[in-house]
Amino acid sequence: MNAPTMQGLNLNAPAYVKNPRLLAWVADMAALCKPDRIYWCDGSKEEYDRLCDQLVQAGTFKKLNPAKRPGSFLAWSDPSDVARVEDRTYICSAKKEDAGPTNNWMDPAEMRATLQPLFDGCMKGRTMYVVPFSMGPLGSHIAHIGVELTDSAYVAVNQRLMTRMGKAVYDVLGVEGEFVPCMHTVGAPLAAGEKDTTSWPCNPKVKYIVHYPETREIWSYGSGYGGNALLGKKCLALRIASTMGRDQGWLAEHMLILGVTNPEGKKYHVAAAFPSACGKTNFSMLVPPEAGFAGWKVTTIGDDIAWIKPHADGKMYAINPEAGYFGVAPGTNMHTNPNCMRSLDKDVIFTNVALTDDGDVWWEGMEKDTGKLPDHLIDWQGKDWTPQIAKETGAKAAHPNSRFTVAATNNPALDPQWDDANGVAIDAFIFGGRRSTTVPLVTEARTWTEGVYMAATMGSETTAAAFGAQGVVRRDPFAMLPFCGYNMSDYFQHWLNMEGPIAATGKALPKVFCVNWFRKDEAGKFVWPGYGDNMRVLKWMIDRIEGQAQGQETMFGVAPQYAEINWTGLDFSAQQFAAVTSIDKAAWAEEFKLHTAHFEQLAYHLPQALLDTKAQLEKRLAA
Ligand code: GTP
Ligand code: SPV
Ligand code: MN
Repeated sequence: MNAPTMQGLNLNAPAYVKNPRLLAWVADMAALCKPDRIYWCDGSKEEYDRLCDQLVQAGTFKKLNPAKRPGSFLAWSDPSDVARVEDRTYICSAKKEDAGPTNNWMDPAEMRATLQPLFDGCMKGRTMYVVPFSMGPLGSHIAHIGVELTDSAYVAVNQRLMTRMGKAVYDVLGVEGEFVPCMHTVGAPLAAGEKDTTSWPCNPKVKYIVHYPETREIWSYGSGYGGNALLGKKCLALRIASTMGRDQGWLAEHMLILGVTNPEGKKYHVAAAFPSACGKTNFSMLVPPEAGFAGWKVTTIGDDIAWIKPHADGKMYAINPEAGYFGVAPGTNMHTNPNCMRSLDKDVIFTNVALTDDGDVWWEGMEKDTGKLPDHLIDWQGKDWTPQIAKETGAKAAHPNSRFTVAATNNPALDPQWDDANGVAIDAFIFGGRRSTTVPLVTEARTWTEGVYMAATMGSETTAAAFGAQGVVRRDPFAMLPFCGYNMSDYFQHWLNMEGPIAATGKALPKVFCVNWFRKDEAGKFVWPGYGDNMRVLKWMIDRIEGQAQGQETMFGVAPQYAEINWTGLDFSAQQFAAVTSIDKAAWAEEFKLHTAHFEQLAYHLPQALLDTKAQLEKRLAA
């Protein structure tokens, strides 16, 4: 046992915690936040079960029917706390220009002065959980350790599914090891003797998601939800890690990683960046169509985040820093994503989906499996839901950003190399947005620089994954707009810089593709079937890697010829193909105006190579 802290609160640290900086930090934070007690998570199953029981007692969790969904729970959040809050998210670098025009910035000293009174006493009446975790395989040279201090037991149990969390982290950390301090509070202290009557404590009015890139710290106040609160995810693995990558020559990306094996047993690895709620989890678990793809297999390495390091052998190696999935529920069913549905059979935490009368879960899209809507549900806000009510009021049973948390090991399509400390060598990068018009189904960049241009100018319609208007096209470069921890133009340059060292080894760089699964027809319906049928596009990419598809030149890269796609088992006419691949000159003239505005916003440090590429593309369009 360690000495009591200033408040007379016992630090209570287990003997196996030997890192003096960690012990001092926990003591300091306890003195600041003034929790009633400190609990050090060991990551055991026994602990997980106990904390889940406590969450059931507190009303945060409903235990689902064990006959239907063993080991699983449902949480309903406060209706004000359902998504990431981009306007409350800050990058507090010493210099404003290092955060860049796409991030909210505040001077670090000013932010510290703002947060100090908020964190002072913020955990009164609550427990401070000490949550040690590794982003990446324990001890991997690519991995990094974080320690989250949180007053949310919901966060602690989610972190056990999402990361390598627990005691073993202290062995890697040792006495001298480095960790990223991640401070989190729901921002709802209790008065002396007050009992918590809320099932989802949060601060409905005040929220701050703050990053100090130079000192590599995270401070999160007021939210208990997803990327705002599970600090290993977007805060550490993207915003802080991207700045580490900038300084150390690697990449932290909002990308899934998948393996795809052909019938001859040759395996390829692909990393793909799509913005939030634009198809990463689905693509990473893809089941190839039965007809025409016998012997093809797709396996999941990661569904949201990739850390990628160039190696002296001329290849880029990627790991998934996470160990679980925090995925979008609505739209998931046996037709769209059977591997995901099977992952959710047991040991899942659901957040903001609906509750069925027999103690199971439901979300929009599940009716595709059962052929009908349920007669009655309790919706995510605890209200009665019937098909009639939905018809009359438009009420959704599940929140559009409702999610499941599940360990990667639940995934039947988990790649055997998913936990490989050295990662997998990437053969292709894919960038894709949600665009109902303009952007074609798939094109291949002619050069690395053109690929960087495509990614840097990518637009996408906004989704429910973040607060704010939905369905509005905005530029989301590399699907990293909300997640890049430094100046976006410097980030573009960092990507351009990857080319030289790899080219010098004589190895080919990964190919770069741009995709759009989301073009709509006049009736507003998706033209491309998507999901498993995206395999047809993936197969064409592999043919391109193998030099087996000629493609055709377009203004925006090399596109497939109709006959180069394997259409077996799908009725998709050349006319429909044209509807998803055509390049509308007028629409692209407008699109380039948006690129111009985007580049004007990013003028500081914008690489000249991107302006040159734009001029070349515009010339092609005019030709
Ligand atoms: P985040 O976890 O927010 O980063 O999202 P994500 O990129 O992993 O997106 P996800 O795979 O969860 O898909 C989000 C939504 O898009 C779901 O409702 C899916 O059903 C839908 N979706 C995914 N892939 C496709 C596709 O190929 N076509 C169509 N039409 N919809 C898709
Ligand atoms: C996203 O919004 O891209 C997510 C969910 O993956 S969250 O963890 O909330 O960031
Ligand atoms: Mn995401």
